[in-house]
Amino acid sequence: MRPARALIDLQALRHNYQLARELSGARARALAVVKADAYGHGAVRCAQALQDEADGFAVACIEEALQLRAAGISGPILLLEGFFEASELALIEQHDLWTVVHAGWQLEAIEQAALKRPLNVWLKLDSGMHRVGFHPADYQAAYRRLLGSGKVAKIVLMSHFSRADELDCSRSDEQLAVFQQAREGLAAEVSLRNSPALLGWPSIPSDWSRPGIMLYGATPFEQAQEVASRLQPVMTLESKVISVRDLPAGEPVGYGARFVSERPSRVGVVAMGYADGYPRHAPTGTPVLIDGQPSRIIGRISMDMLTVDLSDLPGTGVGSRVEFWGRGVLASDVAVAAGTIPYQLFCNVRRVPLIYSEA
Ligand SMILES: Cc1ncc(COP(=O)(O)O)c(C=O)c1O
Repeated sequence: MRPARALIDLQALRHNYQLARELSGARARALAVVKADAYGHGAVRCAQALQDEADGFAVACIEEALQLRAAGISGPILLLEGFFEASELALIEQHDLWTVVHAGWQLEAIEQAALKRPLNVWLKLDSGMHRVGFHPADYQAAYRRLLGSGKVAKIVLMSHFSRADELDCSRSDEQLAVFQQAREGLAAEVSLRNSPALLGWPSIPSDWSRPGIMLYGATPFEQAQEVASRLQPVMTLESKVISVRDLPAGEPVGYGARFVSERPSRVGVVAMGYADGYPRHAPTGTPVLIDGQPSRIIGRISMDMLTVDLSDLPGTGVGSRVEFWGRGVLASDVAVAAGTIPYQLFCNVRRVPLIYSEA
């Protein structure tokens, strides 16, 4: 059997959720964001592991929500982008889902829908991200229309930060000020905090937090941050050395000869490639762990294989275990080396089996 696999530590997932709860504050609740197949960790298994303690879940779309319902997840599930077509409202009602409303056409659809039960709606403000959400000038009117529709049981006021992962940036404070002004006088719960806002912005109010990346144990920050150091990596992406080449100085390795040995070198070939989700653009020098010892990627990443430097690791060879990210090599460090973010590394994982453990 091909040795490439992703180990998923569900106990670490629960630890991280508890940290998110703790950071949310005593009276606040936390929706575990399990969209995009729980950032590549398997939405059903992750939601099942969290279901006894999570206040609810958040997903990107109704397809993801229905997958959770079909697997027996019975708690609240929020659709973070709401519905994409008015016809989804019947399913939202039938499966007791909560929905974001971010646009006028969604408001109209709710007004016109024939619903037997009122909905739980999260009304989204564009406080400066400029992606989705109502303009501040239209926010109060949207709230009043929703209330007046007689179709909603509860409205939560929400917005999303664009730069909360930059700890020395004032944009989150500016967005908060826009939010506070837009919601003035509206007596409703609010939801503002994602992972970076939970970890790095303790003064931001939020009755409902929406942690995503931190649940999976990766920091959203590029620099070290004290609270983030309490996170436990959930995914370990690993494989084994399947072949070894002893090369003299001056020999190229892999496609495009992107690496040329500067000295006599031992090159390990590992069963892992970009078809498994390992980033093709990870350059020579990207950290890996080989039998617990730090080393580096060398040369170009192929579809099914990549090459690592064994030159200074004499005890290693065919069968040596290679960790690409996990507890020994942080995904956030790999992401920095590869010019991406841990979110994308996790979401891209495919083909490899996900192997779950509770301990
Ligand atoms: C609206 C919304 N809330 C929360 C999250 C979770 O963010 P994070 O993974 O940074 O915690 C996302 C993720 O993109 C989102 O779009």
